[in-house]
Amino acid sequence: MIKAIKGTRDILPPESALWNRVESTAREIFDLYSFSEIRTPIFESTELFARGVGEDTDIVSKEMYTFEDRDEKSLTLRPEGTAPVVRACFEHQLRHEMPIAKLYYLGPMFRRERPQKGRYRQFHQIGAEVLGSDNPAIEAEILEMLQLFLVRIGIAEHTLLVNSIGCPLCRPPFLGKLKEALVAKRALLCADCRRRSETNPLRVLDCKVESCQPIIDSLPKISDFLDEGCRAHFDKFLGYLDAREIAYQQVPRLVRGLDYYTRTTFEITSTALGAQNTLIGGGRYDGLSEILGGPPLKGFGFALGLERIVLILQETKKIAETAPAQLFLAPLGEAAFEKATLIAKFMRAEGIRCVLDFEARSLKSAMRLANKLQTQHVLIFGETELQNSTYQLKHMASGEQTELTETDLRSKLVLGRLKGSF
Ligand code: HAM
Repeated sequence: MIKAIKGTRDILPPESALWNRVESTAREIFDLYSFSEIRTPIFESTELFARGVGEDTDIVSKEMYTFEDRDEKSLTLRPEGTAPVVRACFEHQLRHEMPIAKLYYLGPMFRRERPQKGRYRQFHQIGAEVLGSDNPAIEAEILEMLQLFLVRIGIAEHTLLVNSIGCPLCRPPFLGKLKEALVAKRALLCADCRRRSETNPLRVLDCKVESCQPIIDSLPKISDFLDEGCRAHFDKFLGYLDAREIAYQQVPRLVRGLDYYTRTTFEITSTALGAQNTLIGGGRYDGLSEILGGPPLKGFGFALGLERIVLILQETKKIAETAPAQLFLAPLGEAAFEKATLIAKFMRAEGIRCVLDFEARSLKSAMRLANKLQTQHVLIFGETELQNSTYQLKHMASGEQTELTETDLRSKLVLGRLKGSF
């Protein structure tokens, strides 16, 4: 039998219910902060990511799913959402309508990484971008929003790591010193870092190879090179976090794996995840629009990995995965089954989660199934009940059974009982 491709996953029930819960909570919270949804295509021009994310990043150099279309145009399955959002913002002149565009997205992304727990080749992100402001207050507000989201879905234990990676004005002197230090340590670096130390030394700080870690720890720190503007921006950002009582750790080597960042960068990690412990990553990308050939545009945003959020929720069992049905219909005999199809239609239109069993079963087997599905009530009726227009409603938890007439069954009182599950 044909199997799913390595690094991709089928999201099955009951896990899919958890996904829906996380997605709907994100939508609710983002709405409170005036974000609107944007949906961009799954594939884009390769150039969008090559320029936006950066040729020398792992994403562009090793991980993109790139293919030639029939007209020989190079296309890429999107590895991330920020560059497409910035592209769409200009293509549709969104900023004429909203001076500060607050946009969120959710959907699949594609990176050809080595699959492991929490790391897939098709994975899903929920992200948000604020375009048109360089106020550090907006950065703190987004972190406040993320904290509310994490608490609301039940992930209270997480760590916020922050850094500033400066701007194109103060970064060159830092990169000069970094290069010098890397030349001295060249022999000790992994092959990728040896290459990066010449092409894009900032990427060395992002290396995950064990043997490079002590060397990275000894390298110059960007925080010692920030110019006045970047320093003031970062201090204001930290001040806004303090005022909101949002705890954080400053991590000078937090440069993130994409080239478009300037000034503030951040990650939110969770110890519950093991090696792939970054739940959320983001930062400011004031120069991205120009890199893509657009006019200047300030931007700040983040993306979270949905698979990683769901993994934590499954491990900590913070959210019940599916709500059991409120009513199981147990018709006994063919005529009762016909009637049951109409009762099910009525109940569902009234908003009651209802299970209609399509197999002809004995009462005992129907009750066993209702028990297994953890249904709250079972409606039992056979030929005799049909003739008298009566039904037996059994409350599964207490075992209590009530006889109902046709009118009772459709009454507000009984519908309320089914909905409230008492
Ligand atoms: P990123 O750090 O590359 O940032 O990805 C963000 C999050 O996506 C990660 O923290 C992780 O949870 C999840 N993720 C990344 N790769 C994988 C994978 N292979 N499998 C499972 N989950 C994964 C960005 O993508 C930026 N666009 C974020 C951003 C938005 N910055 C500013 N605005």
